[in-house]
Amino acid sequence: MRMTVIGTGYLGATHAACMAELRHEVLGVDVDEAKIEALQNGRVPFYEPGLPEVLERNIASRRLRFTTNYEEAAQFANVHFIGVGTPQQRGSYAADTRYVEAVIDSLVPHLEGEHLILGKSTVPVGTAAALQERADKLAQPGTTVEIAWNPEFLREGYAVKDTIEPDRIVLGVQAGSNAEAIAREVYATPLANNTPFIVTDLQTAELVKVSANAFLATKISFINAVSEVCEIVGADVTQLADAIGHDDRIGRKFLGAGLGFGGGCLPKDIRAFMARAGEVGADQALTFLREVDAINMRRRQRVIDLSREVLGSLIGKRITVLGAAFKPNSDDVRDSPALAVAGQLSLAGAAVRVYDPQGMDNARKVFPTLDYAASLEDALTGAELVILATEWDEFKQMDPVHAAELVEKQVLIDGRNVLPVEQWQQAGWELHALGRSLG
Ligand code: UDX
Repeated sequence: MRMTVIGTGYLGATHAACMAELRHEVLGVDVDEAKIEALQNGRVPFYEPGLPEVLERNIASRRLRFTTNYEEAAQFANVHFIGVGTPQQRGSYAADTRYVEAVIDSLVPHLEGEHLILGKSTVPVGTAAALQERADKLAQPGTTVEIAWNPEFLREGYAVKDTIEPDRIVLGVQAGSNAEAIAREVYATPLANNTPFIVTDLQTAELVKVSANAFLATKISFINAVSEVCEIVGADVTQLADAIGHDDRIGRKFLGAGLGFGGGCLPKDIRAFMARAGEVGADQALTFLREVDAINMRRRQRVIDLSREVLGSLIGKRITVLGAAFKPNSDDVRDSPALAVAGQLSLAGAAVRVYDPQGMDNARKVFPTLDYAASLEDALTGAELVILATEWDEFKQMDPVHAAELVEKQVLIDGRNVLPVEQWQQAGWELHALGRSLG
């Protein structure tokens, strides 16, 4: 099948490459010429394991191309995916939908014949219907443009697998639509492997995505709230999570207590969901998400407070923060808990040194004043306190004996509850963690 994917950021670039991998002919479209040039030359402008290989392979086979030209996109295919961003608006909780609207404005006037636009971006409920009205006004006489919504659930770090083998496919359609038949062709490969396929109306599909992210955020904040109680009474939140996680109605996933969630999705999506619920008149329904957000932010403050408790004062202290990306296997530093902690410690007077296997370049752009180490060893050298803030394998597998030789003081805060405590203690380390008293 032929299709375009409009917007070649994280979501769009991955979707374009993976659709080509599924043997479709794909044209990726973006207004950013530098991004398009990089992709056309087989370079992924962000870190995503496995994606460069998929991109190169499909460019070489000519199933995948990129352009900045909307006219070309309009002529290339009758199926178009939208994968542009919907960031948080400045000064508001609501999502900014101007980029999805801009896609409609740029594409629709060039279309001829029958076209289907499948939105993948995470949008406030009601957006797809509004885009349909917008498209109807812009379409040339005799041209029909249908909007359907096909939310994306990919996780950074697993984006290729999540796109090629999704755990479900959701499609929101309007009455009398033939979008389902087209989507079945697009996703023939995963559907042949029994991937659940759920067809809904537009508003349900829009809500599925934000509900999924709100649930995941709530699950993390739940365990982090319990973690606060554990800290006070001397209980162990990791054992508690294991114990409740054995109940398969609860499940152990996303009960990782620690520094909490960040990234380009969870924080902005819960805020946009709250804002939209208020706009549609369900003011009370999602106010608990405010608490989910607050619990999450308190974890960052807790690490600052714990650092101060451990060191006496922060001023002039050499603190090494391991991690800058919001999670491992990613170079994304958007709303990163690790970087927030590093930045706050620095503003409080500490001499902060940061190391991340992939996130350094992006971190430097956000916080140019921090000191960035060239390697893990370099980062540890001379530290009076080490904070493990993002659970990269490189950090989890650190040798506590070797690390001890490098630092000034063997004191570490495990902000993700991932280190083997006994091994570190036996090597002479004073270990602190969130939700656990390690004595
Ligand atoms: C998320 C959703 O998982 C994905 O389905 C959606 O499409 C986009 O948003 P992503 O932002 O890539 O994906 O990250 P995810 O793996 O969900 O982690 C989000 C944050 O939660 C990270 O900062 C992570 O460190 C944190 N987290 C996760 C915890 O603090 N504890 C956990 O137990 C799990």
